[in-house]
Amino acid sequence: RNFKSSMECRWDIDRLNAPFLAIYESLIPPEEEKAKQKQLLTLLEKLVSKEWPEARLYLYGSCASSFGVCKSDIDVCLAMDADIDKSKVILKLADILESDKLQDVQALTRARVPIVKLMDPATGISCDICINNVLAVVNTKLLRDYAQIDVRLRQLAFIVKHWAKSRGVNETYQGTLSSYAYVLMCIHFLQQRRPAILPCLQEMEATYVVTVDNIECAFFDEVEKLSDFGSRNRETIAQLVWAFFHYWAYCHDYTNTVISVRTGSLLSKRTKDWTRRIGNDRHLICIEDPFDISHDLGRVVDKFSIKVLREEFERAAEIMQYNANPCVTLFEPYIA
Ligand code: CTP
Ligand code: MG
Repeated sequence: RNFKSSMECRWDIDRLNAPFLAIYESLIPPEEEKAKQKQLLTLLEKLVSKEWPEARLYLYGSCASSFGVCKSDIDVCLAMDADIDKSKVILKLADILESDKLQDVQALTRARVPIVKLMDPATGISCDICINNVLAVVNTKLLRDYAQIDVRLRQLAFIVKHWAKSRGVNETYQGTLSSYAYVLMCIHFLQQRRPAILPCLQEMEATYVVTVDNIECAFFDEVEKLSDFGSRNRETIAQLVWAFFHYWAYCHDYTNTVISVRTGSLLSKRTKDWTRRIGNDRHLICIEDPFDISHDLGRVVDKFSIKVLREEFERAAEIMQYNANPCVTLFEPYIA
């Protein structure tokens, strides 16, 4: 392990830049897909406003954060009066949408986050609608703002998400991590590079402040002023993919530390009191939510899936170091 953590990047790493960039480009959604998403949102707004004229619809998740690859589902939040009964609204909403041009409408009232699922045959897009999850709309803006600072974040996150999906480690119901968690891992990683590639927006002067669910969300959002922030760091995408997997395979202290995009640093598990298992929260890999700071995005990970995850990080790190054709081998589907 010590030997590996001091391992130097392969000499021909930059040979991999062109193929990694080609993978990134191939994952970017085409403009017509964005237009179809807008079209679906407009239809939903029309249907919803008849029943709830005061309510508003927001896009969140990868389709709004710029971390969406092509053919992604869209995530929509219906924001309305805070006192409503979410389950009732979900059922009513499903009813309204059912009677129109949409397909496969399902109300999931008993999920941790109750949603309505649907498919729009006109555009072929699937969509999840939740109620009053405004914190997700705000954390989506934070991610989108980070993505505007340095293009290497979006490149790295697309490659990491593509890897995680191919290898079957992007399944929260199986104890692996959400896409949202992987993007936070990428932001943290780029904040930690020396020179840093990303700043810590929540530690800077707040130009954007909202209070949601009693949580004050404040950060610097004039990101156009930061467009050359990372320019002193010349690392290429191939070097960063190598270093990302090397970091999670051999350098991260899983036992004692919490990654925190909010502070731009690592925190100790002890200061967060994330050292013991409480109920189902085991804290085997700790990723602090940037706003809901009592929420560990790693809480879905159990003693079996942590092993799977770490072995996948090690596999990826070894491929990046030794494999003749990493851009293929890295993404080979995992077959159980
Ligand atoms: N989210 C959250 N807390 C979580 C998981 C998700 O607040 N524990 C919110 C975030 O706003 C995130 C959105 O839900 O952007 C969607 O989460 P997820 O499906 O993990 O990410 P996407 O970026 O939509 O990824 P994909 O492209 O795989 O759908
Ligand atoms: Mg999504």
